Amino acid sequence: MNWLHKEIKWVPVGPIRQWFEPGINAMVLIEVAGKDITLAQWHNQIYAFAKKCPHAGGILANGYINAVGCVTCPLHHYSFNITNGRNVSGEGYYLKTYATKIEEEELWIGI
Ligand code: FES
Repeated sequence: MNWLHKEIKWVPVGPIRQWFEPGINAMVLIEVAGKDITLAQWHNQIYAFAKKCPHAGGILANGYINAVGCVTCPLHHYSFNITNGRNVSGEGYYLKTYATKIEEEELWIGI
């Protein structure tokens, strides 16, 4: 294994429609292999990232995803790109994100 690239372990988490209706932008909290993860549907794409904000632990699912696809924390309003975890509001934090894929309506999270 290349030390720069951690291997992803794909974990099935069930049918995607148990979490989201088509076309609805929303976030839910799930547990995957002992990790608390925020699952988001935004413009019919599925994203996964940490439950808590890296600044001071705000629950990101209680925030919102803005018009350009960044989740905003409900506590101090820092924003993070949900595709790569980049802190777009400039405070220098990094949000852990997870890969997702859908195969035959089954959602998988890469941890
Ligand atoms: S806890 Fe999220 S911005 Fe402070």
